[in-house]
Amino acid sequence: MHFFATCSKGTEGALRQELAALKLPAVRGGRGGVHFEGRLEHGAKACLHSRTAMRVLLELAAFPVDGADALYEGARAVDWTPWLTERTTLAVEATGLAPGVTHTGFAALKVKDGVVDMLRDKLGARPDVDTRNPDVPIVLHLDGGRATLSLDLAGEPLHRRGWRTTTSVAPLKETLAAAVLLAGRVEVEAPFVDPLCGSGTLAIEQALRARRIPPGLERSFAFQRWPCYREELQSRWDRLRSQARAAVLPAAPAPIFASDFHPKAIDACRRNAHLAGVSGDVVIEQANVRDLQPRGEPGTLCMNPPYGERLIAEEEGPEARSAARTQERKLAGFYRLLAELLDRHPGWSAVLLSGNPLLQKTLARKAEIDHRLWNGPLEIHLLRYRL
Ligand SMILES: C[S@@+](CC[C@H](N)C(=O)[O-])C[C@H]1O[C@@H](n2cnc3c(N)ncnc32)[C@H](O)[C@@H]1O
Repeated sequence: MHFFATCSKGTEGALRQELAALKLPAVRGGRGGVHFEGRLEHGAKACLHSRTAMRVLLELAAFPVDGADALYEGARAVDWTPWLTERTTLAVEATGLAPGVTHTGFAALKVKDGVVDMLRDKLGARPDVDTRNPDVPIVLHLDGGRATLSLDLAGEPLHRRGWRTTTSVAPLKETLAAAVLLAGRVEVEAPFVDPLCGSGTLAIEQALRARRIPPGLERSFAFQRWPCYREELQSRWDRLRSQARAAVLPAAPAPIFASDFHPKAIDACRRNAHLAGVSGDVVIEQANVRDLQPRGEPGTLCMNPPYGERLIAEEEGPEARSAARTQERKLAGFYRLLAELLDRHPGWSAVLLSGNPLLQKTLARKAEIDHRLWNGPLEIHLLRYRL
């Protein structure tokens, strides 16, 4: 079987490293994700352990498309009976465009018709559509005149780990935070400090990683509702989970500190750490970055500072321009505080996400790693410094 695990743009290297470490067969980098091969069990293993994948797709068919009819015929030609019965629900999600197919909603409808008609012919009955929580999420991807039809093993995207119920300003996706820790080479055996923790995503992901708690350990996935699951996968899945559970460490090997000056961020961080099961591993305190002093052995300062991404448009009036200039001055002052924080930590490493070139300029240091990533639509840089 051929799988494609998707991830945020720029994090493919981290995902490839992760899937190779899981010893999945034929791991190969791609655009926007990583390919691998194997049995259904290997796809399930990626859902259980990958911290950086957004989705794990099982590719069922690929064919050329020159119009909507080709989508219907292509979907109808696939044998869907191993995956769907008349009692399971389905939904089709479409991405991309192809010649003669300019509307993703319409493309999804054509595929759904093809799937349903194939099953009605074979089983004498058709499954229902459930767009909110389908048993079998089907993904159609259109690119360069080709269609790929896949099943989404997880259903709910993998970044929704289940522990983040409260967010504060500009939270990072859990999968992006995990990729930052991996690509930024943040160690788990040395102290970790996020002084701008917000809702705690970086610190909590670091704690989960340090304790070897797989992100999928307490989750249920779409593939568990497929007919083939009971027949061939359930016992292997149970074994994978019990092996993973046995490998969990009782505590993080090094201290993890998370602080923020905003009381609401601290509340959110506490609640999330509790739900993630790592409240005993993360020390959460309200503090201004200006007052932070190095504590204990050297480790990593890791943070996602505000980017101040609002740009002034040409046509905006003098008031808007003056407000933007004030905001820029404030941001410059804040970045100077961060430069001073780094200066107070000789012997440490710093891993920062930068969405504003002014930050790098203000830090005035040579980065050991400067890697381009995307935080949603924003192009940002992952920077690592040895202090
Ligand atoms: C972009 S957010 C971090 C988001 C976080 N990574 C998350 O996933 O939730 C930046 C955080 O810096 C905090 N902050 C800004 N200035 C600060 C200061 N002087 N001292 C401490 N925290 C500050 C804000 O309250 C905000 O939570």
